Amino acid sequence: MNQYVRLGVNIDHVATLRNARGGSDPNLLQMALAVEEAGADGITVHLREDRRHVRDDDVWLLRDHLRTPMNLEMAATDEMVQIALKATPKACCIVPEHRTEVTTEGGLDVVNQISEIGAQIAKLSDCGIEVSLFIDPDTEQMQAAQEVGAPVVELHTGEYANAFTPEKRDLELKRLEEAAVFAQRLGLIVNAGHGLTKFNVAPIASIGGMHELNIGHSLVARALLVGLPEAVREFRLIMDRACR
Ligand code: PXP
Repeated sequence: MNQYVRLGVNIDHVATLRNARGGSDPNLLQMALAVEEAGADGITVHLREDRRHVRDDDVWLLRDHLRTPMNLEMAATDEMVQIALKATPKACCIVPEHRTEVTTEGGLDVVNQISEIGAQIAKLSDCGIEVSLFIDPDTEQMQAAQEVGAPVVELHTGEYANAFTPEKRDLELKRLEEAAVFAQRLGLIVNAGHGLTKFNVAPIASIGGMHELNIGHSLVARALLVGLPEAVREFRLIMDRACR
């Protein structure tokens, strides 16, 4: 096996905690820098239409001070694309977004939005931003991702993470493994994320050719017990052991 899988840490829920009291505690930038220092390879934030966790000023501050690449998650709306074109993060992950959802539900339907998504990708790519599409491990969606010119796909691991039985979990893992092979044959870089925890991340990290995992909620939750740097180190260790 022996592969290095990048760990992208999604710090949205540090912002959620901050926003609960409307002040600046915990300080998002300070936490992001601590996450980097502990060994994360990148920082992810999802700028939502309703700004429920990170806000525009967070994006600018992180952009100016992060040492690792920033991955900006966002819907493919004109408003978000304009912000991304100004902020020029290293990468943008395009996700579906619905106002009433608690978190991103399901992957992006690229198949039925080829021209809209293709046009937004073209603008971002022209500006040097690496675009990934958050999609379910579905062959048609992967083909569509290639067709619209996305260099990267992030495979949605939610079904795997939420599987109630070992059989369902194995089935979802197989789907992800096959999807990764298929996507790589199409020339796509493969990332994955959503619902990953200390207990389910290893099999996903060991999928052949996996480039990056994006992990948020469970890592920030774990940090309440062991501290943010230690939570990052724990995930890093589990991923490294899985890839040996
Ligand atoms: N990747 C994408 C595209 C996401 O939308 C999210 C959730 O914001 C994550 C990864 C991280 O998911 P989680 O918070 O469940 O680890």
